Amino acid sequence: MSERNNSGLAGVVVGQSAIASVESSGNGLSYRGYDILELAEQANFEEIAYLLIHGRLPTEVELRDYQSDLMRHRNLPEALKTVLEQLPPETQPMDVLRTGCSALGCLEPESDQRTVTSIADRLLASFASMLLYWHHFHVNGQRIETMSDETSVAGHFLSLLKQETPDELTRRAMDVSLILYAEHELNASTFAARVVASTLSDTYSAMTAAIGALRGPLHGGANEAAMDMIARYATVEDAERGMHEALSNKQLIMGFGHRVYKQGDPRSPIIKAWSNKLAVATNKTRLFEVSERIEQVMMREKGLFPNLDFYSASTYHSCGIPTAFFTPLFVIARCTGWAAHIIEQRENNKLIRPLAEYTGPTPRSYIPIERRH
Ligand code: COA
Repeated sequence: MSERNNSGLAGVVVGQSAIASVESSGNGLSYRGYDILELAEQANFEEIAYLLIHGRLPTEVELRDYQSDLMRHRNLPEALKTVLEQLPPETQPMDVLRTGCSALGCLEPESDQRTVTSIADRLLASFASMLLYWHHFHVNGQRIETMSDETSVAGHFLSLLKQETPDELTRRAMDVSLILYAEHELNASTFAARVVASTLSDTYSAMTAAIGALRGPLHGGANEAAMDMIARYATVEDAERGMHEALSNKQLIMGFGHRVYKQGDPRSPIIKAWSNKLAVATNKTRLFEVSERIEQVMMREKGLFPNLDFYSASTYHSCGIPTAFFTPLFVIARCTGWAAHIIEQRENNKLIRPLAEYTGPTPRSYIPIERRH
């Protein structure tokens, strides 16, 4: 590990996985062999969740049963509601989910009857309930009903957030974004989940660790940071000027570049098309135009392309999602991929415990405290 190139495990293959295939040339991403382009066009998110967790696409009946199951699991135990009410109103929403996940692990612990798949379903169904129960309690003083008639995870999130039935275009935009965010091989949060699973710890602990990893701006937090940046510019000219200034100050531009893809993120054109569609539909095109100009400057000046997080920002904004909920949405989608990896890790487990090259002091004698100055 002494090579600078190997820092951050870049390019290091640490195991095998049959869940997602990521083409470093930027040509593609597939979930269990199905191309992401086809899935984003034709599938719904629950089909993808089922595919990832159960290893195959559901039949029509299985999908209906799965959606009904998820709908039934949207309730929150009273003790969890109390925990959410006790959190400060200014808590970071990712911390709300991390705490909610951990608290549910105390209230409904893993057991022979409550397995990784049922815990994954429970978390997938109730993450939106946790976040939005906490949100409405602290912002509006309301204890909302966390069940809804919406059959999809996307629809459930939107209906709890807005307390009204979402329109079809917004619901589908969200659904597609959840498909795109569902799985991505050994990204940092998934690797964190697998490290925890490899110690034979429980599913909640692995998921909690993954949420912690996803929270950072170099990973899932990039979509929120990208939104903050885009929102700063009133016009494309402002954006052009601002980007030149940021780049000359050697700033990292959130939502650009990728550890694996070096020629383009195959998910980006899909979410960009949705960002454009929503901008046109809502007749609010500024954010999309500013985003496109930022994309052009980044390509021209740095040869860097947008990753999924960049156009997710304007897409979610057009869907009426508060910026602080962008990364929590990523959690809701990615908990399916995390679950698939926890299952795969357990199937052929080996403790993940790499080595470090020691660079500290050479051996020396201990100095008793009274002789230390
Ligand atoms: N803005 C500005 N410069 C960037 C950049 C960005 N978003 N991403 C990479 N670069 C530059 C690096 O500074 C580096 O330049 P240098 O060779 O002059 O030092 C070069 O491009 C190579 O980048 P590197 O840091 O080696 O890539 P990485 O594989 O370690 O990092 C990311 C990948 C994703 C962490 C990095 O691109 C990044 O921080 N992007 C912004 C955060 C983000 O969008 N995260 C979501 C990822 S899906």
